[in-house]
Amino acid sequence: MPRKILVTSALPYANGSIHLGHLVEYIQTDIWVRFQKMQGNECHYVCADDTHGTPIMLRAEKEGITPEQLIDRVWHEHKADFDGFHVEFDHYGSTNGTETKGYAQDIYRKLKAAGLIEVRSIEQFYDPVKKMFLPDRFIKGECPKCHAKDQYGDNCEACGTTYAPTELINPYSAVSGAQPERRNSDHYFFKLSDPRCQEFLRKWTRSETLQPEAANKMQEWLGAEDENKLSDWDISRDAPYFGFEIPDAPGKYFYVWLDAPVGYMGSFQQLCNAKGIDFDAYWKQGSDAELYHFIGKDILYFHALFWPAMLQHAGFRTPTKLFAHGFLTVNGEKMSKSRGTFITADSYLKQGLNPEYLRYYYAAKLNGTMEDLDLNLEDFVAKVNSDLIGKYINIASRTAGFITKQFNGKLTEMPESAHSAFGQSVIALSNEETDRADINPQSVSKLDASYDDHLINNPQKLLHEFQLASHDLAPLYESRDFAKASRLIMRLADVANKYVNEEKPWELSKVGNEDKLHFTCSMSVNLVRILTIYLKPALPNLAVQVESFLNTPPLQWSDAFQTLPGGHAINPYQHLMTRVDQKQIDAMIEANKETLVPPPSPVRHGEAQQHLPSPLKGEGANVGAIAPIISIDDFSKVDLRVAKIVNAEHVEGAEKLLKLTLDIGEEKPRTVFAGIKSVYDPEKLKGRMTVMVANLAPRKMKFGLSEGMVLAASGEAPGLFILGPDDGAQPGMRIK
Ligand code: 2FM
Ligand code: ZN
Repeated sequence: MPRKILVTSALPYANGSIHLGHLVEYIQTDIWVRFQKMQGNECHYVCADDTHGTPIMLRAEKEGITPEQLIDRVWHEHKADFDGFHVEFDHYGSTNGTETKGYAQDIYRKLKAAGLIEVRSIEQFYDPVKKMFLPDRFIKGECPKCHAKDQYGDNCEACGTTYAPTELINPYSAVSGAQPERRNSDHYFFKLSDPRCQEFLRKWTRSETLQPEAANKMQEWLGAEDENKLSDWDISRDAPYFGFEIPDAPGKYFYVWLDAPVGYMGSFQQLCNAKGIDFDAYWKQGSDAELYHFIGKDILYFHALFWPAMLQHAGFRTPTKLFAHGFLTVNGEKMSKSRGTFITADSYLKQGLNPEYLRYYYAAKLNGTMEDLDLNLEDFVAKVNSDLIGKYINIASRTAGFITKQFNGKLTEMPESAHSAFGQSVIALSNEETDRADINPQSVSKLDASYDDHLINNPQKLLHEFQLASHDLAPLYESRDFAKASRLIMRLADVANKYVNEEKPWELSKVGNEDKLHFTCSMSVNLVRILTIYLKPALPNLAVQVESFLNTPPLQWSDAFQTLPGGHAINPYQHLMTRVDQKQIDAMIEANKETLVPPPSPVRHGEAQQHLPSPLKGEGANVGAIAPIISIDDFSKVDLRVAKIVNAEHVEGAEKLLKLTLDIGEEKPRTVFAGIKSVYDPEKLKGRMTVMVANLAPRKMKFGLSEGMVLAASGEAPGLFILGPDDGAQPGMRIK
């Protein structure tokens, strides 16, 4: 009976690009799903963009578009990246849809009916300018411990301390720069501390749903049997917020993490709608379908505590298993924008790098644990070239040509296949000697070399070894130990190459030993076919090319126990994969390097413009690039004041200057010399309000001391325009 399996990967946020760190998870999941499908299981793989929350709302605002426009654009970018890496979802949705909204509200109502929702007033930082409550990440200030400036509200990047935003010294809003106020507001809580939740989660943890490392973490969170360590979860956010409104709670929205996992259901519902699949068969309590969530170890808390507790108490089934993985490091270090190792999916593809290089490399390193995975770029080049081109492709490239040239493309009869129900592969046994308690490692290594010779001289045995390895590889794929699977596959490829080396088809061809040549090359092609089956979950595109070269329908897992029939015609071999070139890697790193060099200075006539980042559009274009980003602290160093021009006059002997007398509410007015003579008649300036920099160091000039500076706008075209505040502004008011 085929298994019914629903698989998800974590939903990426709709406010950033997919990078190689994300791809560890999507590639891992995709390989697992493709394996399940090749096995003939009914397996559905869904995902979606995670679209709600404050950062997305603010980013859209900054870009001058609606959140819907932003998430639509990012959806297409994400989808293109996934397609580019052959990550094949059965459905890729968005959490901002009616299906997710419906399930989020339904779950909430059921939790409420079960008495698991509570409303409490809590105090939080509020931005009085932006008129919104501030998430911790949007509050900055001085670290209470090491006094580093401009640290986030939850932890200090300088010393690593974590704290509450209220502990920050001189906190300010990262949105408006305003000093936040403390305000109270009603929040909705999911009562995780309720004994029903505790009891359920304790049982759930013991049910082998989690990897050992994850189960340990859970134990830590849950505490001892008589402890009640879990605290209630705040699931609401106040308007303005981009998300779903909570039923019967105007102005209150579901916190993004409440509806994100519900997006798994919403996306699956959309798939069900399109394909006529029975949603309840997968999600109702008591369902016999399997449900797996692939996630990063950083979001275990949400998936192992909140999510199953929500499902359980709302009448839905809980996940069969959570598959958590570690983080990606590049060259042994955290990904870094300045080193160029924060590599986006798009930049990888733009270099013309084959996505299957990365799929294979990740497969060769993924072992189903929560350990971090290192992408060592030198090793990447070496491994891909040696395993894929040097071993796997090499078998076909050295033998297929003879079939086409000398045998009209037709293969000869193969010995009888192994019986799929009997026998074990000796190569598989010996390959991971250290893992097998029943095998003495020394006897195995001796066995290795002599066993290979034995196989090479007994082609039927060789074929059977390749076929029986299927029994060892399937559980490795199932348990997500792709690393061990790829070691075994490469071990088989080594033996196949030894076979070709030994038989030397090029010499058989020279001496005219046609029968042996035909057999050797046909056997080699059949071995390539079996290896292709085993590699297909990781290398789906390459498998399609091989299928077309072999002239066969899409290969399934069980096809390993058959060979191509005698007389079967293959197509002429065409080169399947090129080597990775180190230059492409270097170029990719360069392309991802984020330099802190200021952008180029304003464009002057006659200069090329194409190097400018984001040239300004519309009226006033051609004014050049925006200056490097400054912090709000940098900006607040400039003391700008509303100034009344109490007097303006010509300066004798000065070509460009006017002498202004400015009142900024101080005892004595200030004198400022301004280079605006060519455009302003002093008489007309008298009595006007303008803006001045009040804390600029005084400058001694030929005509006297200048005690500040007035601000004026200018562009490429002639003209100079001093600024003026709106009616009502009074001299001395601070401009922020
Ligand atoms: O950590 C993240 O990137 C989240 N967007 C993952 C959400 S997974 C699921 F719960 F939706
Ligand atoms: Zn600190």
